[in-house]
Amino acid sequence: CAAAALMVRHRMKCSGRWARAMTILKEFEEKSGTPISKLRQVADAMTVEMHAGLASEGGSKLKMIISYVDNLPTGDEKGLFYALDLGGTNFRVLRVLLGGKEYGVVKQEFVEVSIPPHLMIGSSDALFDYIAEALKKFVDTESEGLHVSPGRQRELGFTFSFPVRQTSISSGTLIKWTKGFSIEEVVGQDVVAELTKAIERVGLDMRVTALVNDTIGTLAGGRYYNKDVIAAVILGTGTNAAYVERANAIPKWPGLLPKSGEMVINMEWGNFRSSHLPLTEYDNALDVESLNPGEQIFEKMISGMYLGEVVRRVLCKMAEEAAFFGDTVPPKLKIPFILRTPDMSAMHHDMTPDLKVVGSKLKDILEVSNSSLKMRKVIVALCEIVATRGARLSAAGIVGILKKLGRDTIKDSEKQKSVVALDGGLFEHYTKFRECMESTLKELLGEEVSENIVIEHSNDGSGIGAALLAASHSQYIGLDSQ
Ligand code: GLC
Repeated sequence: CAAAALMVRHRMKCSGRWARAMTILKEFEEKSGTPISKLRQVADAMTVEMHAGLASEGGSKLKMIISYVDNLPTGDEKGLFYALDLGGTNFRVLRVLLGGKEYGVVKQEFVEVSIPPHLMIGSSDALFDYIAEALKKFVDTESEGLHVSPGRQRELGFTFSFPVRQTSISSGTLIKWTKGFSIEEVVGQDVVAELTKAIERVGLDMRVTALVNDTIGTLAGGRYYNKDVIAAVILGTGTNAAYVERANAIPKWPGLLPKSGEMVINMEWGNFRSSHLPLTEYDNALDVESLNPGEQIFEKMISGMYLGEVVRRVLCKMAEEAAFFGDTVPPKLKIPFILRTPDMSAMHHDMTPDLKVVGSKLKDILEVSNSSLKMRKVIVALCEIVATRGARLSAAGIVGILKKLGRDTIKDSEKQKSVVALDGGLFEHYTKFRECMESTLKELLGEEVSENIVIEHSNDGSGIGAALLAASHSQYIGLDSQ
């Protein structure tokens, strides 16, 4: 009898805890809501901030950086060029042989190198030396048929995916680090000068002829293959967008207007912020404890670096306040960033009837070995809430750009296709995120307009794009082609 009473009490305790955990989840879901009316407000706010950022330097949270790219690739680019793509946990070096209109990209080779975490927060020389060494190693593998003509210097397009105040197409100073990098001494420095010094230190003869953001590289790479590309969006470790603006719509533009009448703008939309964003207590805590508090708020709700961390924070509260994982909080759950977005994605896509994948992730990452099916279902639901919010907000951001360009409505007279080049690991690998982003875009634009808006995956376009821009800004332009 005593045992039965104990059992009843235990059951009541469990169901009380369960109810509390469900309340935490429900509250989070409500606060994270992105009904279409809210998304429209976000899109409108994005358009307003774009205007403000173009009007004056510092006029908005959106930096709307002038990229000095006033001509996108035409297809005429020829010769052998290098590209270096730095902006996340890996960097890539590429060698691209361009064959002009007739032959296109004849050949490309690349290597990918991961950046040891200590270099992301160490010294400038240590980071750039590491990169230059890898570059040198790669250059040393140049084969017979794939090298620059004798007497020519190798030329490099440098994709540096952080906010940079460009001073020309091939120079610019770092405004601030994002995405987990933090090397104070580089802030305010010309990153091309830093890289060039390291290139010299390793004894390589190479010159940076174009410095670009990954969004700009993706736009350039996208345009090379498709003339209708007007914007590029990165959904990866971080998030950002670039687009082609009319030069005379940039009041802050300091110089003579470019001949093309166009200028590519790097929005740095990761730093967007608006009272319409559905921010929760978890987002606020994540922000306060981050390397860059108060900054990159949009990015912290959307991008791959943070989605898993938001999930972890909600789980932590459920564990602490509702004993979701039992009487003790799993110690691993308290470690920031332990739950990475690829793991979250794997759990979210778990199609097995007993959610085996969720079970094994919980075991491997959090050392929770006794998860019930009921618990696993809750975790999938949580992933769904976090991914859906991020995906829907990114769709609203794209609509903001289309609005700024007047491409969000159909004027019968001008039916024009608008292609947005998308890249980044989140877009590429997180299927449910991508599908939700695409369907939200349709929902926001309506059927008729949606027919003319195309989302195109630009696979590693930013590397090729940087090589193409290195080519169109080559020091040998006007001389014989290689
Ligand atoms: C971060 C960087 C931005 C980059 C984006 C995507 O937001 O600040 O420059 O484009 O990540 O990599």
